[in-house]
Amino acid sequence: MKKRNWIKTIGLCAIGGLMCTHSIAGEPQKTQKYEPTAENLKSREAFSNDRFGIFLHWGLYSMLAQGEWVMTNQDLKWDEYEKLASGFYPAKFNAHDWVAAIKASGAKYICFTTRHHEGFSMFDTKWSDYNIVDATPFKRDVLKELADECQKQGIALHLYYSHLDWYRNDYYPLGRTGRGTGRTTHGEWKTYYEFMNNQIKELLTNYGPVRCIWFDGWWDHDQDPDFDWQLPEQYAMIHELQPSCLIGNNHHQVPFEGEDIQIFERDLPGENTAGLSGQSISHLPLETCQTMNGMWGYKIVDQNYKSTETLIHYLVNAAGKDANLLMNIGPQPNGELPATAVQRLKEIGDWMKIYGETIYGTRGGKITPRDWGVTTQKDNRMFVHILNLQDNGLYLPLTDKVKKAILFKDQTPVKFRQDKKGILLQFDSAPTDIDYVVELIF
Ligand code: GLC
Repeated sequence: MKKRNWIKTIGLCAIGGLMCTHSIAGEPQKTQKYEPTAENLKSREAFSNDRFGIFLHWGLYSMLAQGEWVMTNQDLKWDEYEKLASGFYPAKFNAHDWVAAIKASGAKYICFTTRHHEGFSMFDTKWSDYNIVDATPFKRDVLKELADECQKQGIALHLYYSHLDWYRNDYYPLGRTGRGTGRTTHGEWKTYYEFMNNQIKELLTNYGPVRCIWFDGWWDHDQDPDFDWQLPEQYAMIHELQPSCLIGNNHHQVPFEGEDIQIFERDLPGENTAGLSGQSISHLPLETCQTMNGMWGYKIVDQNYKSTETLIHYLVNAAGKDANLLMNIGPQPNGELPATAVQRLKEIGDWMKIYGETIYGTRGGKITPRDWGVTTQKDNRMFVHILNLQDNGLYLPLTDKVKKAILFKDQTPVKFRQDKKGILLQFDSAPTDIDYVVELIF
């Protein structure tokens, strides 16, 4: 069922000397201080400038149409579940159309699930037959098609990779999820770890520039703190293969040594409505991921899409908190993006065509987020994003001398009064736009 190339495994250990020397059982891990390279720092900067990306959760689970956790939620046995592969034929998949629809939203990068917790590889891999090329009648490397199209259309590629696996028996010891998927024999962590590194190596050598590897699943072992994921070696290998590749890990903790971005799930940095956040905010570039409806993977009953206005507000609020928004879509089993999602992408894009300048390349503004909205900043310009104000005046505690205040959409002057303590912006009536943007020039 699974082929493994032991010679290659040994070869990889030899290349990544660091990897093997660090993982001798029982020895304390040497934690070397991570110094990002110049390419990596440049890539972080480009990442933050982009401010907006689209997440794509696609795997065999799309066929069951109940989200990407269906395998463990319903205790589906791995030897039944794997039969889905022989019926997976996403006839309508068209990488060009996906990338074009995503680009139309103004998003600057795509993060694709190469292998989710179900354990199925959505790319051509030598290290397991359980992949989209070898195990499905479709036989196409969708990741390759997507990566090529990203390059053609000029959008950065990020790759999601699950650390945990509900299918393989060498993902052992088991974590707190996937306990009912019927694995009765246990392989060894060592082969699983090598398998992951071999796959990651493929991802970083066969698909052109990858701007980020986005890990998930660390939390599967958060109740056995002695468990060692051996991340430092893995991270070192990634940075060696592609120094500009950023590493993010959705572990819901403050970033670990070797990581380049900090990820938040379903909440803006500093907020914790979903119960996954609480961790403090680091100095690394920030990203928050959020669903467009309620689920990550395609769920047929979930038509609960957020309105375009809500999604735009989320994006603006993220930018005001100095974070990127990674907004998710779960493609259908036939290979299409859901029509509602495509519609939302277009509407966000129409807004971004006008207001993109107040988002791209900005950083969270000097005035921290307030009830009425947020600020973003670029050079000597501040964009005051008024999202919710029932008043025709707005006072900002801003002491920098403002030369000019204009309404961003039509460049008409905005009346203001400034004294030593702050500035009062005055409008004819309370703002009603989705985002009423006032530009202040210093
Ligand atoms: C959680 C979920 C996973 C999803 C991820 C996206 O970790 O377990 O299914 O891919 O969030 O942020």
